[in-house]
Amino acid sequence: MPLPRHVGIIMDGNGRWAELRGQSRVEGHRVGADSVRDVTRAAREIGLEAITLYAFSSQNWSRPASEVSALMDLLREYLLGERDEIMDNGIRLAAIGDVERLPSRVQDPLDALRAESANNTGMVLTLALSYGGRESIARAVAALARDVAAGTLDPSTIDVDAVNRYLPTHALPPLDLLIRTSGEQRISNFMLWELAYAELIFTDVLWPDFRRQHLFACLEQYGTRERRFGLTSGQIVASDVETDVEST
Ligand code: IPE
Ligand code: IPE
Ligand code: MG
Repeated sequence: MPLPRHVGIIMDGNGRWAELRGQSRVEGHRVGADSVRDVTRAAREIGLEAITLYAFSSQNWSRPASEVSALMDLLREYLLGERDEIMDNGIRLAAIGDVERLPSRVQDPLDALRAESANNTGMVLTLALSYGGRESIARAVAALARDVAAGTLDPSTIDVDAVNRYLPTHALPPLDLLIRTSGEQRISNFMLWELAYAELIFTDVLWPDFRRQHLFACLEQYGTRERRFGLTSGQIVASDVETDVEST
């Protein structure tokens, strides 16, 4: 069964999970952090190359200040608490988004763990923090325009690969699978460029309930999809046969 190289997850439904139990939304975020641990560990064990977790969007800054602050506390706790797990399992921690906007109580442990894990080769765990897909494209365009203005980039050479090099995800494997929990069927500004040919799975499970068995079910579903990238099914089957012949 083909495994995706890179899985992105929109971890949604923490608030509703808590509200269903008559608890505060923050309680949902707290249990959601347990899901992050379990899913990350499982992803590493089955050999995914990369997972990218949407933890906090550019738009989430507009939530009530008390919720934003509690989320920042939980992020700090997560980064400090996961240090050993990340290092022992050879995971490289990365971040995408406007991380300079995060308070120093999050930025400091984030920078420390990114630096400490920089040479790990097991799996890349990317946290999308203060992240927006459109914001990320806008930043890339600004950097690209600066290079054109400086004369180091010839506009006639700008193609998909050139744009890609300016995105914060350029060093990651292509995004093969997107999972969104909680039943919402939208992208909410996550990895707009990278999603071009990703398979999409929407599950009703709320993020705090999402554990390794749910990830495995998604991977199984992914394995049944035929990815055509604009080609015909016949072409895909023929190229699979060729690859099989070549590899025997
Ligand atoms: C996802 O859960 C976590 C973040 C966006 C930070 P939500 O907090 O969005 O939970 P719901 O969607 O309100 O249930
Ligand atoms: C997307 O969820 C952001 C994260 C999971 C971090 P939201 O809950 O913010 O998205 P909307 O508001 O339902 O679109
Ligand atoms: Mg939500």
